[in-house]
Formats: sequence, C-alpha cells, structure tokens
Amino acid sequence: MRSDFRLDQLLSRFGYCSRSQARGWLKAGRVLVDGKPAREPDQRVAPEAVLVDGQPVEQPHGLLVVFHKPPGCVCSRDEREGRSVFDLVPARWSARNPEITSIGRLDRDTTGVLLLTDQGELVQRWTSPRHKVPKVYEAQLDQDPPAELVATLAAGTLRLEGEQQPCAPAVLEILGDARVRLTLTEGRFHQVKRMFAAHGRLVMSLHRSQFGDYRLDGLAPGEWRVVPLPG
Ligand code: URA
Repeated sequence: MRSDFRLDQLLSRFGYCSRSQARGWLKAGRVLVDGKPAREPDQRVAPEAVLVDGQPVEQPHGLLVVFHKPPGCVCSRDEREGRSVFDLVPARWSARNPEITSIGRLDRDTTGVLLLTDQGELVQRWTSPRHKVPKVYEAQLDQDPPAELVATLAAGTLRLEGEQQPCAPAVLEILGDARVRLTLTEGRFHQVKRMFAAHGRLVMSLHRSQFGDYRLDGLAPGEWRVVPLPG
C-alpha cells in the first residue's frame, strides 16, 4: 500500500470530505500535519503525520469491523429495500474510497456477526467456498429436524431446490426444543432457510454467532468493534 498521499486525496480517500472541500477544511484549521496547520491541499503526507479535528486518520491501512446486525435492516445499499446496515455505522466509512461493504450478506430478519470492510481482497477470500471459512448459525425451527439430517449434511449430499451442485459438508447439532446449530463453509442465497426447508422445517429465527474467528464477544445489537486486519 502507498505510504503517502496528496493531502486532499487523503481526506477524500478516508471519507472526511471531497477533494474540492479540502481547501476549506485546511483554511478552517481542521487538519494538522506534524502538529502544524496544513495549508496546501497538494502537499504529500503520510497518514500517520495527519490529525483531522484533533484525531488520527482512521485505519489508513484498511478497515475491518465486527458488527452485530440487528433485525430489520438489509445488507444492500438500495434505498428501496429500506433501512440498511450502512445507515447504522459511521457515514465516513461509506464515504471512504473504496467504501465499506459487507463480507457476505445476512437476510433482513437474521441477526448476529456481520463483517464490514473496505478490503476487496478480504471479501473475495472470505466469501469463496474454496477457502472454507466456517460460519456458525443458531436457528430456532418450527420443530426438531429428523436425526438423519446430521449424517446427510455431514456427507455433503443435500441438494437445494433448483440447484445441481449439492451443499458442501456441514455440521448440524440438534440442541433440543427445535433449536439447532449449523456450521457452513459456503454462503448460498438464503442457504440455512433453504437447507431446512428441503426437509420440511421452517426457520423461525436465525442468528449468526461466528464468522471465521470472529464472534460478537459482548457486542449488543447495532454495536461494532474495529479489529486489526489479518496478517
Ligand atoms: N442463511 C439464510 O437463510 N439466511 C441468512 O441470513 C444467512 C444464511
């Protein structure tokens, strides 16, 4: 990654203001470089030397966030779909270039771990079934699934309606009272709901408790934690 930027590019790259607004921000004394008010938008700077409104530039080497998705919001940015997860986190993250995106999606009613990042390479890597990143779901069904489903899912023979390729092997734990824990290494459209629907079971509620190594660890719905990028 480049270690220095034109100051106006840096402010726009990390979502503070547009390049055309940068001059005004400098005039207003909002930006310090090496502790002194910056004057020239085309000055080259390392992000580490810059303070904006007294704060260091946020995550200049990339942003990765664990977000506890609440129910009732979507992972898309299409306004016609209603409230978005991106309305619930700082607007500056969406003004970054590249903007943040979610690593995979959860349905509107699904809660739990949703990773957000501006690193396209992480999105590719962690959503590709080749990388077998485990995702753990806790579901409440309308009734217990048949015990044989554990072996069917482990064998990787379950076929979803309308699809040729069977689902990758998955681990199903039957917890009682129609509750289950399911660990998947892929992420097809509405996969959990469709896997249980294939056996006549309805998912009443769905929560993702883990994505790869990331868990909520005490985050309440709507809260987030910025975490280090993987090495
Ligand atoms: N599977 C689903 O059916 N829905 C989700 O939100 C995630 C996985």
